[in-house]
Parts: sequence; structure tokens; C-alpha cells
Amino acid sequence: MDASLTGNSALITGAAQGIGAAIARLFAAQGATVVIADINEDGGRKTAATITENGGEALFVATDVTSASDLDAAVRAAVTACGRLDVAINNAGIEEQGGAPLHELTEETWDKLIAVNLKGVWLSMKAEITQMLAQGGGTIVNMASVAGLVGLPLGIADYSAAKGGVVALTRTAAVEYAKQGIRINAVCPGVVRTALLDQAITAGMFTEPEAAALHPTGALITPEDVAQTFLYLASDASKHVTGHALPVDAGMTAG
Ligand code: NAI
Repeated sequence: MDASLTGNSALITGAAQGIGAAIARLFAAQGATVVIADINEDGGRKTAATITENGGEALFVATDVTSASDLDAAVRAAVTACGRLDVAINNAGIEEQGGAPLHELTEETWDKLIAVNLKGVWLSMKAEITQMLAQGGGTIVNMASVAGLVGLPLGIADYSAAKGGVVALTRTAAVEYAKQGIRINAVCPGVVRTALLDQAITAGMFTEPEAAALHPTGALITPEDVAQTFLYLASDASKHVTGHALPVDAGMTAG
């Protein structure tokens, strides 16, 4: 599989920790210069430092994905470093009030989650596509979730609505920009072992064994497992794949 990213620039939102950090480490190991765009400055700088200490190329740009000007600055940082933006991974996301059924969700919670998980992806794509049109192409991979594909009785209606919206944005943008050489796909993970999972367990959404039991395999997924799928979709290994929402869910949506 030709999954080399040598000479490419890759902007990754939400890469201070969790799945985003695993993607950043893998892409840097495959030769990309990674731009870590995250609201968490300490975590983002640490991820970038770890990559450079291991011989990779990485820089951090403090970025709130709800801010169009922050995203423009993050894209500019990639272009300044590498002359163009080859790959963009829109991964930043939150899930803070898991476990609340739809009728108990507050407007405040809804608005915040949609602002980060859905509007943030649109704003990210807006900045990235503007640059990719100017340079003549690029590749975008958005972070969705199995929650955007099927109904899950976990008290995450706002999160599911946002992730379903990310899948729809991905498909729409893929056909809008196909002729301009921009490929756009989404990844839909099942339950991945990260801080976000710990928060869901603390919020009472499920216990860890219950979370693992959502997968037919009975095992949780690691951030590194998910990162491999992002590499496939970001690289030329998937050059005719666009508009796809690919589950990495240990069979969760197959039944
Ligand atoms: P995480 O909580 O470990 O990492 C999320 C990252 O996003 C953090 O670095 C955080 O600082 C950053 N972030 C949050 N708000 C931001 C903002 N406004 N601007 C910029 N950065 C921001 O979570 P995890 O699990 O790594 O999640 C990453 C993505 O994967 C999210 O979109 C999540 O919805 C999605 N996902 C996670 C699954 C899981 O089971 N952990 C399953 C399916 C999807």
C-alpha cells in the first residue's frame, strides 16, 4: 500500500491528545509535516515536541475550531511551512453531557456541541477548501462516528445529530469538489479508548465492559487503530475513494 506522506503538509485539528495525537504521530512517521491545531495549548505543544524529538516535523497552532479566523491562521501556518496544504484532518470534537436523554438536553449544551462538532467541521473545511482550490487539489478526512450512522440509546442525541451532519457535509462536499481534485471522506469509529471515553464512563453513559460489549468483537478500539484508517484515506492508497463514510467499529453497525 502506498501510504507515504513524504513531503506533504497535514493539518490536524484536535491533535493535542487522543485519536488526533495518534494521527499526528503516524502521519509524521510517514513523512508529513504536521500542523497540530488544538484549543489545548499545553497538550498541543507536547504532542508537537514528542514528534520532533522522534525526528519528525511538527508545529503547533493554538486553534479554536469555532473560530473562522483561527482556522484561517492554521491553514496559513501549513502553507508557510510547506508551500501548500496537502491533507486536512478535521478531528476536534467534544461530548460533555453524555447520558442525558433528548428531552433533558439543555439548549446551552446543544449549541456548544453543535458549534464544535458540526459547525467546527464546516468552518475547517471552508478554510481548507479555499486553499486547496487555489493550489489545485488536496485531501480531507473528517471525524464522524458510528453515532452518525445508527441510533444509539446512550443519551447522545446532540452528538449523534452533529456526527450525522458531518457525514452529510462530507458527501456533499465530495461531489461539489470532485472535479477540482479534492477528495473528502469521513471515518466513523466505534468506541475508542481515549479521555472522551473516560468522560462518558464518568457521566454514567456506560461502564467500560458495557462499552466494549457494543462491539461484536467484545474489544475496545485504540487510537492507533483508527489512525491507520485516516492514513489510508489521506494518502494515494485511496486515490479513487471519495464521499465515503468508513466505519472502524469492530462490526458494530454490521448487524
Ligand atoms: P479527546 O477528548 O481525547 O480529544 C479531543 C481533542 O479535541 C482534544 O485535544 C481537545 O482539546 C480538542 N478540542 C476540543 N474542542 C476543541 C475546539 N473547540 N477547538 C480545537 N480543538 C478542540 O477525544 P477523542 O476520543 O480523541 O476524540 C477525537 C474525535 O473522535 C472527536 O471528534 C470524537 O467525537 C471522535 N470520536 C471518538 C470516539 C471515541 O470513542 N473516543 C468514537 C467516535 C468518534
